[in-house]
Amino acid sequence: MNGTGKGLVQWDDMWLIGVDAIDKDHKKLVELINALFTSKYRYQGFKEIREHAQRLLDYTDYHFDREEQLMRKAKYSGLEDQIKEHRKMQQQAAYIIKNIEEQKKPDLKLVNDTERLLCDWLIKHIVDCDTKISEHLKERKIIVIEM
Ligand SMILES: [Fe+2]
Repeated sequence: MNGTGKGLVQWDDMWLIGVDAIDKDHKKLVELINALFTSKYRYQGFKEIREHAQRLLDYTDYHFDREEQLMRKAKYSGLEDQIKEHRKMQQQAAYIIKNIEEQKKPDLKLVNDTERLLCDWLIKHIVDCDTKISEHLKERKIIVIEM
């Protein structure tokens, strides 16, 4: 993290799970989280933050949906648990972002705390959930060409 507005999460190749489409989505999520929080250095109200927040939530829905389709096709045994985890994370993200939206005036501490939460949220998702899908695909020698 830094305070210069240049971005919050630095992508780390250790997070690559080896499925191209999913890795691209994760990079996009990093980008959207960064866009959300670099906007705080420019905004004159919450309009911009809200737009970025909505983009992040929409892309999260899109990404989880893709992952769920992939897990179904690959007959992943942990599908139900992953879906539960996804729903929980979607609620967490929506709750976190709602807190920002409800502020009447800029509260930099809240935004900073939120940055940390979303950052942990994303890394937890990749490391705890998606690496398991990747292991499943590797064990069964399933190659995902496109999604
Ligand atoms: Fe993911």
